[in-house]
Amino acid sequence: MANDALLRLDHVSKVFDSGTVGLDNVTLDIAHGEFVSLLGPSGCGKTTSLRVMAGFEAPTSGRVLLEGQDITALRPYDRPLNTVFQDYALFPHMNVAENVGFGLSLRKLSGAETEKKVKDALELVGLADKIRARVSMLSGGQRQRVALARALVCSPRVLLLDEPLSALDANLREQMQIELKRLQSRLGTTFIMVTHDQGEALSISDRIVVMNRGKIEQIASPSKLYDAPETPFVADFIGSMNLLEAEVLETSPSFVRVSAGPMIVEVPAECAASNPARGASALVCIRPEELSVQLFPTNETVAAQITSAVFYGPMQRLFVEMTGGQKLMIDMGRRRSSETFEAGATVHIKPIRGSGRILSKG
Ligand SMILES: Nc1ncnc2c1ncn2[C@@H]1O[C@H](COP(=O)(O)OP(=O)(O)OP(=O)(O)O)[C@@H](O)[C@H]1O
Ligand SMILES: [Mg+2]
Repeated sequence: MANDALLRLDHVSKVFDSGTVGLDNVTLDIAHGEFVSLLGPSGCGKTTSLRVMAGFEAPTSGRVLLEGQDITALRPYDRPLNTVFQDYALFPHMNVAENVGFGLSLRKLSGAETEKKVKDALELVGLADKIRARVSMLSGGQRQRVALARALVCSPRVLLLDEPLSALDANLREQMQIELKRLQSRLGTTFIMVTHDQGEALSISDRIVVMNRGKIEQIASPSKLYDAPETPFVADFIGSMNLLEAEVLETSPSFVRVSAGPMIVEVPAECAASNPARGASALVCIRPEELSVQLFPTNETVAAQITSAVFYGPMQRLFVEMTGGQKLMIDMGRRRSSETFEAGATVHIKPIRGSGRILSKG
């Protein structure tokens, strides 16, 4: 990746005049044709990263490189990047064609050339029939497409998208996610999208950059991020996770055995983030779907009391507490009604063989 990066943030920090640290030594490589999402909680530095890439914000230190060339000092419109802003920033007094054509106004093109490019861009986003419509007459999804067309009309090398779908309702949002991904594959343009919606990031990205407090926590494919989180923050942030304080009981080339309160978890050695020593304290992560529940004890199970049971249609989530007070969530597929579990009941639980991960305490 390092050698063929299209865009690179190289040790970028951004400290605002107020003293707030927006970015703290961020290094990130984006490859040609990738769909990358920047994901993280509010204030973690997603928009600042995008603004530094686009040139709207100068880094306090570090560089922005495009195919190895330092572009840190280039003005936004001298960079072959384009941005779709969260609020779309369309001009309400202009029609669709004028909005899209605005992206071309700095280029010295003939009227016919402009017209053709505008048409092509609107074709791409499925809005060719709205070319003369006033922006104020369009629906949310249609405005979003106009903003996309305006950003794509200059054929940027990289398209930067800041929460592009956040103004849309859930159904339209899902539909636009699919369209955005399809458009990106068809064009082969590199897309870098900011989102705080993990479902959105997981469903459309090639890679996800998880950020926290101005730093990168982990960069990985959606499935790797879900299956192999490397830090407690990522483990907790992506999906639902039980994160338990544990003590290492035994290590071997094939497994690491830990105790989390009364529960013994044997984790495959490759699922331990570092080489934990016997007696060390660690965190063990187990997804709610990686625990099994039964009514009767065996020598592998531990007793737990159900504090609440929530019905989610295809599954039921139990909130339980083990002796010693450690709390867990357990997701169960749908059962026969005779086996529904209710608050107050005692159940017997165990981790499904081969599940769990061990992280060092960060
Ligand atoms: N112009 C600015 N002046 C001072 N502080 C700023 C400025 N812009 C951003 N910050 C601060 O920098 C940090 C990162 O902000 P940023 O806008 O990048 O967050 P974000 O991840 O996009 O969050 P959100 O999901 O809420 O949009 C925050 O603490 C924010 O308050
Ligand atoms: Mg933001």
